[in-house]
Amino acid sequence: MDKIIIEGGKPLKGEVKISGSKNATLPVLAATLLTDETCILRNVPKLLDTNTMIKLLKSLGKDIEWDKDKLIIMSNGKPNPVADYKMVSTMRGSICVLGPLLTKLGETKVSLPGGCVIGVRPVDLHIKGVEALGAKVTIDAGYIIAKSKRLKGTRVYLGGAAGPSVLGTANIMMAATLAEGETIIECAACEPEVEELANFLNEMGARIRGQGSPRIIIQGVNKLHGADYRMSADRIEAGTFILLAGMTKNSNIVIKDFDYHQLTSLDDVLKKVGVIVKVEKNAVRVKPPKVLKPVSVTTYPYPGFPTDIQAQYMAMMALTDGVSVVRDTVFPDRFMHIAELNRMGARIRREGGSAIIEGVKELCGAPVTASDLRASAALVMAGLVARGKTEIRRVYHLDRGYENIDKKLMALGASIKREKE
Ligand code: UD1
Repeated sequence: MDKIIIEGGKPLKGEVKISGSKNATLPVLAATLLTDETCILRNVPKLLDTNTMIKLLKSLGKDIEWDKDKLIIMSNGKPNPVADYKMVSTMRGSICVLGPLLTKLGETKVSLPGGCVIGVRPVDLHIKGVEALGAKVTIDAGYIIAKSKRLKGTRVYLGGAAGPSVLGTANIMMAATLAEGETIIECAACEPEVEELANFLNEMGARIRGQGSPRIIIQGVNKLHGADYRMSADRIEAGTFILLAGMTKNSNIVIKDFDYHQLTSLDDVLKKVGVIVKVEKNAVRVKPPKVLKPVSVTTYPYPGFPTDIQAQYMAMMALTDGVSVVRDTVFPDRFMHIAELNRMGARIRREGGSAIIEGVKELCGAPVTASDLRASAALVMAGLVARGKTEIRRVYHLDRGYENIDKKLMALGASIKREKE
């Protein structure tokens, strides 16, 4: 297992290019199960999570190869409807093979993903959706077993206690593409990744409209074909670099090749914090203010403040000149990073689904342990601005979602290296 060692306090300067979106790529990869024809995906980020999805697709009847930066996905004629526990348990995103396998093969058995450190991760909305489309679903020995003749279009409300579900919407949208008649998803997730999946499905011959809004309408078709598609940039990676640039003294970073409009909620908050963000063509130049102002945020589904940059934002709030509150309504238990940030001198306490952060003048390097993907990013950011040395263990979490992060940071002037533990 690797660990990352950071010598903090270096100003960061230069340009960083944002990679393809992890959360858009995972369901798009799953969508290739809807056709026997070849699909080509470009700008796929080379990450642990995309590799896990590729392995899962191979186990489900796909031959997949890289041709430089293109990912070529072909059918090997032996479809398998069973998504095994070993793979699904390492990555929750694998749940999005449920809809495509069911609608294409008429049956599927997908391991329940289980919980993870960011909290309980139910799948009731996924099951509700496929049942509404006519599938018979049973849970047996840790697996969701779903069977159906051709699915039938319907109107289905997919809102849960915490709002819409991103992958739930993705699953039902994919299932509905090959269903008979029209499906209307109400309270659909509006995340750009759902929109991107719908665009990819339409390239495959699906008939979807309303993506990006809470009502998605899908007209079922008999067959989908192959497509050649370029993945868009990762808004969460971009947000992470923007926050890092905004909290690192004397830095001046250009973050490029992504769509800043997808981060309007972050832009709004950063203005109040005092961070200077200059929007250039397909890029932003970010400079830190003299003093970071404390600004409270609450996470919400898109276009609200993303839960996936809550931990990174907390690292920034640790260094303000006052008190702020960060509340997570999407994953109210996603606070594993608090204890680790406190080991670095932060003053954060948790109260239910909120964290109360008293800003400190500086953080100091310490040995810390990464608990999940975005928490790891928060620790890297804290380490980069801290006085002295930070050692981050279990960095495989980071490799799940940030392509070449140590190389990108090194190019900006960070002192960061990777060692075997
Ligand atoms: C996706 C993202 C993840 C992000 C999350 C919220 C991927 C691979 N992952 O995860 O990075 O943090 O969206 O933006 O794209 N819920 C239910 N019942 C369900 C499903 C979800 O109650 O059947 C709840 C969840 O517990 C959570 C909320 O709904 O409170 C949102 O979760 P959801 O949008 O489903 O997250 P994912 O799609 O799994």
